[in-house]
Amino acid sequence: MFGKRSPGSAPNATAPPPAPKAPANSGGDNAATPPKKTAPANRSAAPSRPAMAMGKIEQFNALKMRLHRKLIDKLDLSRMVGEEDVLRQQVKELVTQLADEENTLLNYNERQRLVSEVLDETFGLGPLEVLLTDPAISDILVNGPKQVYVEKGGKLTLTEIQFRDNAHLMHVIDKIVSGVGRRCDETCPLVDARLKDGSRVNAVIPPLAIDGASMSIRRFGADPLTWDDYVNFKSCTPEIRDFLQACVEGHLNIIVVGGTGSGKTTLLNNLSSFIPETERIVTIEDAAELQLRQPHVVRLETRPANIEGKGKIAIRDLLINSLRMRPDRIVVGECRGPETLDMLQAMNTGHDGSLTTLHANSTRDCVSRVETMVMMAGFDLPVRAIRQQFASAVNVIISAQRLTGGPRKIVSITEVTGMEGEIVTMQDIFQFEQVGIDEKGRAMGQFVATGIRPSFLERIKACGANIDPALFNRQVLMKDDALE
Ligand SMILES: Nc1ncnc2c1ncn2[C@@H]1O[C@H](COP(=O)(O)OP(=O)(O)OP(=O)(O)O)[C@@H](O)[C@H]1O
Ligand SMILES: [Mg+2]
Repeated sequence: MFGKRSPGSAPNATAPPPAPKAPANSGGDNAATPPKKTAPANRSAAPSRPAMAMGKIEQFNALKMRLHRKLIDKLDLSRMVGEEDVLRQQVKELVTQLADEENTLLNYNERQRLVSEVLDETFGLGPLEVLLTDPAISDILVNGPKQVYVEKGGKLTLTEIQFRDNAHLMHVIDKIVSGVGRRCDETCPLVDARLKDGSRVNAVIPPLAIDGASMSIRRFGADPLTWDDYVNFKSCTPEIRDFLQACVEGHLNIIVVGGTGSGKTTLLNNLSSFIPETERIVTIEDAAELQLRQPHVVRLETRPANIEGKGKIAIRDLLINSLRMRPDRIVVGECRGPETLDMLQAMNTGHDGSLTTLHANSTRDCVSRVETMVMMAGFDLPVRAIRQQFASAVNVIISAQRLTGGPRKIVSITEVTGMEGEIVTMQDIFQFEQVGIDEKGRAMGQFVATGIRPSFLERIKACGANIDPALFNRQVLMKDDALE
């Protein structure tokens, strides 16, 4: 099996990749990834590229490096203008010609592969290109140059993809972050960025990443999941989708909660799609991930401090500013710090219908997370006051979860009803009840209406929602296939 690639080079590069900035790497670990090294035999083949015998790999890579250098020497950069497709075609012809001049014993498939890998290095993100073309991959996790995991269908697997060395990986990271006007170096070793297709990128480089540069790419692709996908994947039922639509149209304040990678942002994106086109939406994010289709959207993104430590604009600054932008809706990608209190206040002061997400393991946990975030931000508020703010601001909490074996589901939709004494009171309207694990090791269960009718039903009906009250009778709405 084969996976190594040649040194990287930007489309406009005039020299080979920069010298290594970080110590040589032997593959590392990352909090979001599974155990350390797995035997190469377990690596899954790069999609849609023919495999190659082990013995040829070194020879192939050496040839690729040679071709790439020759290509850079031959390219007349001053004449490299025009559409990328045209340039790509020209460079492809040149690489093919250079490959012909080499006296190699490569077969047709290997030659094709050689040309396409040199093109990936020149125009794209090198070894990652082949992963980026696979729409089924939801996460790409690079732990140093020699270890690349992907998540596909909810499962993490080690791929055979490798970078040549740490310098090669650093070069690709530089290419990504410089594309969004950011940088990643010793003075700024943590960076958030985004790919052209909207995928979110986080990079951490040495010395913070001990075993070599680490990069996590969250893919949404050009085609993010839609409500139809949610229903087809049994992530929710059509009734739940319609109910959520009524909640959004009815201007309820909604928080999506869940753990890492549980599907919070995807759900927020889909909830936002229910906001009527007539309303002015302001979105606020750390790295823009939301892809709203409405015509009237103002998208704001935070900015890290510059090299002198100045100029940082946080979510909170943007949120406070957005209140002066006459928003009908404020959508905050994630509340994770002092902005949480501002968000609650905005929800309480006439910005109904605001939406956000929050990292919490359950609906209940959400309240204590909010308390902690508000207190850690240094606001000197008694817990009861924070809870009161929460109870009067938030109408609905939706909990997203990635269940055993990979399926992602909306596991509960909960109404916040108020306070009783010191406690925020809530009631579950819909739930996913897990009953076991199917033969593929995936969680299986059923969506149920709990038998509780939300107290805001009249309010959302007044906004035009056409909901049959019988929907809230205790009943099973949908079962997973394995239970049918
Ligand atoms: N219901 C779903 N079914 C299948 N895949 C899903 C579902 N929801 C989200 N995904 C996929 O799961 C991945 C993680 O989703 P998402 O980024 O929304 O999670 P998140 O909770 O916001 O993660 P993070 O905590 O890292 O911000 C994405 O690739 C997304 O396309
Ligand atoms: Mg997210």
